[in-house]
Amino acid sequence: MTAIPGYVPATRTSGELGIHSIGEFVMAVPVMERAVDFYRSFGLDVREDGPHLGLHTPTDGYRWGRIVPGPAKTMQHVTFHCFEADLSRFRAHLDDLGIARQDPPPGFDDAGLWFRDHDGMLVEIRVGVKTTPEEKLEIEQPLTVPSMRNALYRRNAPKAEPRRLSHLLRFTPDVDRAIAFYSRVLGLRLSDRSGEYIAFMHAIHGCDHHLMAFAKSNAPGMHHLSWDVASIQHIGLGAMTMADKGYAKGWGFGRHVLGSNYFHYVQDPWGSFSEYSCDIDYIPSTIDWEGLDHQPEDGFYLWGPTPPEDFIRNYEAEG
Ligand SMILES: [Fe+2]
Repeated sequence: MTAIPGYVPATRTSGELGIHSIGEFVMAVPVMERAVDFYRSFGLDVREDGPHLGLHTPTDGYRWGRIVPGPAKTMQHVTFHCFEADLSRFRAHLDDLGIARQDPPPGFDDAGLWFRDHDGMLVEIRVGVKTTPEEKLEIEQPLTVPSMRNALYRRNAPKAEPRRLSHLLRFTPDVDRAIAFYSRVLGLRLSDRSGEYIAFMHAIHGCDHHLMAFAKSNAPGMHHLSWDVASIQHIGLGAMTMADKGYAKGWGFGRHVLGSNYFHYVQDPWGSFSEYSCDIDYIPSTIDWEGLDHQPEDGFYLWGPTPPEDFIRNYEAEG
């Protein structure tokens, strides 16, 4: 673990400009029915909405993503939310940086600011609800007590239920460029990295250890969507349910070092993953987190089974 040469730690001052959340992602897939089955099995409330599918969390109904038809799986755009007072500041900020504004894609409005990131992915900043937690969310870990049966009967096992989207991990050919773009333009901060291979970034207004993460590949792509669940038991139940429904390929159960979360990744029909994640580290808005550069072995996992050989294969790059 070493300090990063030339890296200037964040200085927390009031009035800093930064997005606070992911509002929504819009992803194209070639066969919509496969998305319905996969995400419904995963525990999301999948709602058909005209030509789109909405991916909602069951408890609060929030729509985290939309699936649209397309020739191949690709992340069409990601919408980030900012505070209302910051939208005009972001408009001026993008102009100062010479970032070219884009028209919204067909069917989407122009209430926000549209532009392309370092890899050409369409990004929007708009005013919206803060979906990142205000504090570290408790996990459910009931104490076991003597003189009783503590586990549930299998017939009473609950369904794994994602309670929110935690982060997205994207492939990029240049992790340094990703860090530079997302910090300079959107106001994210580096949480941790491992050399040129992977970087984790958080939003500055109170956020999980990472909201966006970037892994090196030969081309851009989407590696995984990470869904927070309330307990380690929900990770296990989710993995079992998915295997029963034919989605046995994946990686887990394990624990990451960077972010500290427990995980199980389920491979989706397009070779990327959805992650059941629990107990990720939290970075409050009041602290300056020191981003560090870590050994490659710490960039991956603390413990768990050997990852499948295609875990970091970028199927999107293969067309
Ligand atoms: Fe993750």
